[in-house]
Amino acid sequence: MHVGILGGTGPAGRGLASRLGAAGVPVTLGSRDGARASAVAADLVARWPERSLPVDGAANEDAALADLVVVATPWEGTVATVTPLCELLTGKVVVSMVNAMTKAGRELLALAPPRGSMAATVQAALPGSSVAATFHHLPAADLEDLTVPLGADVLVCSDDPGAARATAELVDGIDGLRAVVAGSLAQAAAVEAFTAVLVSVNIRHGAHASLRLTGLDRE
Ligand SMILES: NC(=O)c1ccc[n+]([C@@H]2O[C@H](COP(=O)([O-])OP(=O)(O)OC[C@H]3O[C@@H](n4cnc5c(N)ncnc54)[C@H](OP(=O)(O)O)[C@@H]3O)[C@@H](O)[C@H]2O)c1
Repeated sequence: MHVGILGGTGPAGRGLASRLGAAGVPVTLGSRDGARASAVAADLVARWPERSLPVDGAANEDAALADLVVVATPWEGTVATVTPLCELLTGKVVVSMVNAMTKAGRELLALAPPRGSMAATVQAALPGSSVAATFHHLPAADLEDLTVPLGADVLVCSDDPGAARATAELVDGIDGLRAVVAGSLAQAAAVEAFTAVLVSVNIRHGAHASLRLTGLDRE
């Protein structure tokens, strides 16, 4: 499984690429500027020379050729990024990790996208793709630092059981993460909104907290 990450040059994309690469999954970081993505990918690989991470960089259009494509842009640029790639992404699983939030003093507040969530917005823009929502609650700094052990549950939402399964497998392939399928894409509204609470907790407490569900047997 080759994974492409649209907007992959930011902290979230770099962090996810580091962990997927460490799990042996080939990743192409996408960017509006392919040369920039190549440089970012080269830096990322050079940071862990002993691991030979299978990560490269390219334009978003090239990253969209991967088997499974993750959207890791800021919410403001998400629709403009995925819409021109609609045809390339048809028939594929597209994973949205996008959160719509705004700063208010020391807090982050959730914004309500017109369709309830950014994942549903991506699904509306890509009617031929199967969208899953996941990875929202993982702090990028910890993802990118491969010396930090992870220990988190990662909620997965999709209207397509096959997409939920493929996404959960991707999550479970990362050391220290456990995928928890939460239900349909309608659940993504609450999942995305909760990110603002979690980030605010982290700002307030100077932490990198993520999510851990108790009392849940493995599915
Ligand atoms: N940071 C985290 O801890 C974290 C954790 C989980 C989920 N997320 C979510 O993941 C997404 C990415 O987070 P991030 O912190 O990596 O964001 P970011 O650094 O602001 O943006 C990621 C990349 O998107 C591209 N980009 C920026 N503005 C754009 C626009 N208007 N249109 C299209 N592309 C644009 C840029 O790449 P190029 O200039 O190279 O194209 C940038 O490097 C966000 O939706 C965030 O809520 C973040």
